[in-house]
Amino acid sequence: MTMAVHDISINGRKVQAQPGTTILEAARENGIAIPTLCSHEALAPYGACRLCIVEVTQNSSCRITTSCTTEIQQGMVIRTDTARLRSIRTTLVQLLLEQAPGAPVVRDLARDMGIPAGTTDPSGPASCIMCGLCVRTCAEIVGAHALSFARKGAKREVAVPFFRDSRECIGCGACAFVCPTGFIKMHDVLDCGQPERIMETWKTRLALQACVADGLPFAPRAMLEHFVSRYPTPEGFLESCAQCRRQNKKT
Ligand code: SF4
Ligand code: FES
Repeated sequence: MTMAVHDISINGRKVQAQPGTTILEAARENGIAIPTLCSHEALAPYGACRLCIVEVTQNSSCRITTSCTTEIQQGMVIRTDTARLRSIRTTLVQLLLEQAPGAPVVRDLARDMGIPAGTTDPSGPASCIMCGLCVRTCAEIVGAHALSFARKGAKREVAVPFFRDSRECIGCGACAFVCPTGFIKMHDVLDCGQPERIMETWKTRLALQACVADGLPFAPRAMLEHFVSRYPTPEGFLESCAQCRRQNKKT
């Protein structure tokens, strides 16, 4: 049984949206931009950064809610850019600028929203802004569950269990890839007896597997084993790099 589409209004425009659509998705489908930091289309909504707030009027009452976590309902009247919302977002972005002044994503947000960066130093730290993208990517996409939020209050931080030498971290680097600020650091050390991937931020080292064909280290062994145990992988996935596997297929 197909459910009827919902009639809503966004910034005075009457539009329709499928049931189950979030306000953020409905706005984007209609070309209406809403600033976001913690939302990613491949991940479940989380509602951490609160930049995506909108005003929703329904049954004569008006409330502010995060558009990434709120599903549309029939008759909602949504405003995405009121003076009240701009004021709250400005405060949020100013806090982010204090927290991570060296993060281009934060400075770009401030510039796009016309918020002066004040005396914050662009060469300052690109710290963690607690968006949770790394934690959710590690759990929902990679399936490693190596990261979580630890401690409370001002000391809250993302960490691996016991803050070092994680057995759960497989060194895939997805967290570093998705992190919007560049806070997560990793590098490979190749010129030593046992080449390693060092996840600096998680204080974790992982042995790199050498390709049986060309002898070059290509991926953490733990990552290869993790993917082999969970997903269909091509033949030779554990032993050979992608390039050698492709060449081997051709010959
Ligand atoms: S480390 Fe990066 S991705 Fe993870 S919560 Fe902090 S800012 Fe977000
Ligand atoms: S994008 Fe909605 S709370 Fe961050």
